[in-house]
Amino acid sequence: MGQANPTQLQSDIISLLACALSLVLFPISLSISIAAYAIAFVRGTLLSHRPLAHHNETVLITGARASKALVLTRAFRRAGHRVVLADERGPYSSLFCPARWSASADAFVLLPDPAVDPDGYAHALEEAVEGERVTAFVPASTGGASIDDARVGDRLRTLLRHVEVWIPTEDVVRALHEKDTFMALCAELGEDVGVDVPASKVVTSVDAALAFLAGCKEGGEYLLKSADFGADDAIRAGQTLLPLRTTAATRAYLVRAGLHANSGRRYVLQRFIRGREICVHTLVAHGELRAFVCCPSSDLVLRYQTVEQVDERLGVLAERWVQAFLERFRHVRGDEAASKLSGHLSFDFIYDEVEDKMYAIECNPRAHSAVTLLASRGRELADCYFNPSYPTGAVLKPRRTEPAHIWLAHSLPYALARSFLSARHHPTLSAQHDENAWTELAWSPLPHESLLSVLTSRDAQWDEDDPIPWFVLAHLHAPYLLLRSVFTRHGWARFNVSTSRFFFLS
Ligand SMILES: *[C@@H]1O[C@H](CO)[C@@H](O)[C@H](O)[C@H]1NC(C)=O
Ligand SMILES: *[C@@H]1O[C@H](CO)[C@@H](O)[C@H](O)[C@H]1NC(C)=O
Repeated sequence: MGQANPTQLQSDIISLLACALSLVLFPISLSISIAAYAIAFVRGTLLSHRPLAHHNETVLITGARASKALVLTRAFRRAGHRVVLADERGPYSSLFCPARWSASADAFVLLPDPAVDPDGYAHALEEAVEGERVTAFVPASTGGASIDDARVGDRLRTLLRHVEVWIPTEDVVRALHEKDTFMALCAELGEDVGVDVPASKVVTSVDAALAFLAGCKEGGEYLLKSADFGADDAIRAGQTLLPLRTTAATRAYLVRAGLHANSGRRYVLQRFIRGREICVHTLVAHGELRAFVCCPSSDLVLRYQTVEQVDERLGVLAERWVQAFLERFRHVRGDEAASKLSGHLSFDFIYDEVEDKMYAIECNPRAHSAVTLLASRGRELADCYFNPSYPTGAVLKPRRTEPAHIWLAHSLPYALARSFLSARHHPTLSAQHDENAWTELAWSPLPHESLLSVLTSRDAQWDEDDPIPWFVLAHLHAPYLLLRSVFTRHGWARFNVSTSRFFFLS
């Protein structure tokens, strides 16, 4: 969706309208939550009342603000494990953080921001592991903390051997985390073995990029991407195909994108593949695939649906790719390295219809929100991590009939805004549909979806045995962050409610 950005004023108005809506619906949501809480309480199904299992783990989960952390917390608690949640100190982890109100978490730990104080972050995590007698470390943080989490994982592996670490080693996380090193790793695993990635070239200067593009064959179309994590929101949104018509125009674009020799950043020119994008969440244990979720994707996913319900073949090809990757990893890096390959690996793929081939375009070594589709698997999801006799080769997937998951806190305001406002009020409301019906599958509400169908959709935050976080997200957390954006004059273009992440106007 390459629309223009809203102005600060538009952003403020939308924020205030969303808060007003939240206020109006407050009594209704509160009644629903209290009723659900009372029913769970009486039936004894409230997650906080579940007895601990005889073989219980104490699990430390980071990234508490995101729904994916909540999904894991609930699954572990259902299976009778104790869960300690952690998140970085800041507005997202304030008292209004939904997970703080979850009946499934036994403790909440605040951490320093790893970008500012990486040593303090690592230290605080290690302290939490010792203080809370943690037996399993399951990071679910945002990408900014992946390397720090992996470093803590490595220290735990050597210092506290009884702690199970659910993130790969730091060197592997580093290789997976950035686009150029991931491409290099896939190349190392071998060609023509099923781990396909699009042709790409690392460039660090405008001249090198121009030289490469000049040599590319007729019709070769490339995308410029930053190889460094999190740096390319601006260029990614544009999706400009290179080379442009004239060398001068291409040069101007490259300069504008920040590609100059002394920027210290690395860029990749990646062959553009026209096709359907899918995102994949996996859980890998000692190099073996344990859980797999695959969904239609776009650049902002707020509706998760299993890809198999739309096109079975895409799920098959993506799973085959991941299995080939794991098999080759063991073969090339050896059993010792493979035995430490545990944790969440999320992949983005593009399916090239002409070649009938799945290409991986990036890997994120962390949990993906698509894990929400496994929520209804309950304790089976926990067993993937902690059942010592988990059957070899078994891969947990969402139920075939699993409905799409949305976040009502996003979809309801958006559906109303779409009915009563237009692109004049906010550019994301433009009537122009994406020409690509595929990416619309990842957006909620769907283009012609009625308000009733939104209201009856499956909410990713909802759990009848733990209803309060759902209420807190819609009526405390989101309004608090939106009001904050108004008062601190930080306008935003998009708000990812699943991860509490804003795309601020620059
Ligand atoms: C939890 O696990 C510990 C150690 O494995 C065990 O001693 C304790 O009895 C378990 N708790 C329950 C309630 O079974
Ligand atoms: C929003 O969060 C989801 C869940 O982590 C993620 O899949 C998606 O890519 C995020 N969107 C953006 C634009 O960051």
